[in-house]
Amino acid sequence: MVQLTLPKNSTISEGKVWPKPAGAKNLKEYRIYRWSPDDGQNPRIDTFYVDTDDCGPMVLDALLWIKNKVDATLTLRRSCREAICGSCAMNIDGTNTLACTKGMHDVEGTVKIYPLPHMPVVKDLVPDMTTFYAQHRSIEPWLQTVTPTPEKEWRQSHDDRTKLDGLYECILCACCSTSCPSYWWNGDRYLGPAVLLQAYRWLIDSRDEATGERLDNLEDPFRLYRCHTIMNCSKTCPKGLNPAKAIAEIKKMMVERRV
Ligand code: SF4
Ligand code: SF4
Ligand code: FES
Repeated sequence: MVQLTLPKNSTISEGKVWPKPAGAKNLKEYRIYRWSPDDGQNPRIDTFYVDTDDCGPMVLDALLWIKNKVDATLTLRRSCREAICGSCAMNIDGTNTLACTKGMHDVEGTVKIYPLPHMPVVKDLVPDMTTFYAQHRSIEPWLQTVTPTPEKEWRQSHDDRTKLDGLYECILCACCSTSCPSYWWNGDRYLGPAVLLQAYRWLIDSRDEATGERLDNLEDPFRLYRCHTIMNCSKTCPKGLNPAKAIAEIKKMMVERRV
């Protein structure tokens, strides 16, 4: 039988149970992943009790309530609290989603929170997005043209603009990529659903004139073809987008240009 040796810091231990807030009548229990690079300890799960009469309705409200009133060292990213910046993406109740739009009462019982899966952790709920952003950069996500730049603007018909619907709304939160088994195992070489959805967004932009080069850049057994249509990405997207469909469309474009 194969013997596996777990890497250092790979086990999660039971952490601190923080006291219940005095006088609170309605409590919600939170179990939250904690890890700091500074103390040399294994990750742990801390338990907190949130006074729901003193807190907004979203999971992000509860996290900020905990940070402000119980443990100021709890570390997370957030900015817009409106599902626009994508920075509060985390795993809540077993699903990757945005803390700012996830209602805490939509979770039955204890709310369990982990960082996005299969990403290196910077601290607590903050994943290291370096590779993800480098992959995004690699698809050159900007308009590329050979036609001289018009004096006023690049024009686009209404119908062509409509083709970007379901793509331009992506906020690069990485919920989809970090729910994709292919990305878990080959995240260094497979671009993953978020970046491929972005790639498709530029491939079908009627104003862009680098379609051939963009397809060449994706024509690779790992960058594109590691998608096995498992569909976790489309199930998890908090913006209701369909990265799996965008990937299928890219594969179709690859076939079409060969015939
Ligand atoms: S497709 Fe959806 S889940 Fe994926 S990065 Fe964009 S908004 Fe987030
Ligand atoms: S459909 Fe492709 S990108 Fe989406 S989860 Fe499955 S393998 Fe990953
Ligand atoms: S805080 Fe910006 S998406 Fe949640």
